[in-house]
Amino acid sequence: MGELRYDEEATRKLLAMYVTPDVIEQRRRFLDALNPKRGESVLDVGSGPGFLAAAIAEATGPTGSVCGIDVSEHMVDLAQSHCAQLPWATFSQADATQLPFPEKSFDAAISTQVLEYLHDIDGALAELSRVLRPGGRAVIVDTDWDSIVWHSSNRSRMDRVLTAWEEHAADPYLPRTLSNRLASAGFDINFQEVVPLLNSDFGEHTYSNRLIDLIVSFVSGRSEIGHDEAQAWADDLRGKGADGQYFFSLNRYMFVAAKRS
Ligand SMILES: C[S@@+](CC[C@H](N)C(=O)[O-])C[C@H]1O[C@@H](n2cnc3c(N)ncnc32)[C@H](O)[C@@H]1O
Repeated sequence: MGELRYDEEATRKLLAMYVTPDVIEQRRRFLDALNPKRGESVLDVGSGPGFLAAAIAEATGPTGSVCGIDVSEHMVDLAQSHCAQLPWATFSQADATQLPFPEKSFDAAISTQVLEYLHDIDGALAELSRVLRPGGRAVIVDTDWDSIVWHSSNRSRMDRVLTAWEEHAADPYLPRTLSNRLASAGFDINFQEVVPLLNSDFGEHTYSNRLIDLIVSFVSGRSEIGHDEAQAWADDLRGKGADGQYFFSLNRYMFVAAKRS
């Protein structure tokens, strides 16, 4: 029990990450892979605060459409206000495993950092396949949370904190099984690639700087990690940053597929 819930507090912390240059650059790569065209209808599953949906809507233009769905009401509200000037981008509260659209509704679909949070990943992929037209494109991105390399003075504490943090996702190692799952759901994989994230300094506007707070609040009280220990873990990382010894990296994996005709 107990994955990360996007309540107001977690949403605020997530938003702080979304505006870091690291994450902006990753969104650019995901958008390039999706390659939305003018007039296309595109689905964003787990659209979060709507940053990616806004970029997709700019590419489709008003002759196209972008539908974002998210299980969190906070996220749907944020996405709606973020895309207020792009009325052909619309958002609704829905579950990825029960998409509120008829079959073959979309030319393309994207889901970034969402499937790893689902208990029924295959059900969500079946839904994605159902609502895409034959030949429709899908871009799926997920993190393998085992890929974190984070320099610390205390490796055993780091291991315990990261093991507790893995509980924030339903499947923290999803990329390893995703290509087989996509094939079973009726997709042909066009290509897959690793999208690494590297922070070799502790700038305030880096992904991992912002991740620390999210991890501290999530792991405190889990797996016998008290708040003091979680803070000591965070302080150690901040100390590495102050001493010029900071190092963080993490891998995301992107799968670009097409629905089999
Ligand atoms: C890490 S955020 C990613 C948001 C966005 N896709 C992005 O990368 O910018 C994960 C999102 O998935 C949503 N989510 C989690 N479970 C979901 C479900 N069962 N159905 C739809 N959305 C879900 C969360 O509310 C959250 O907005």
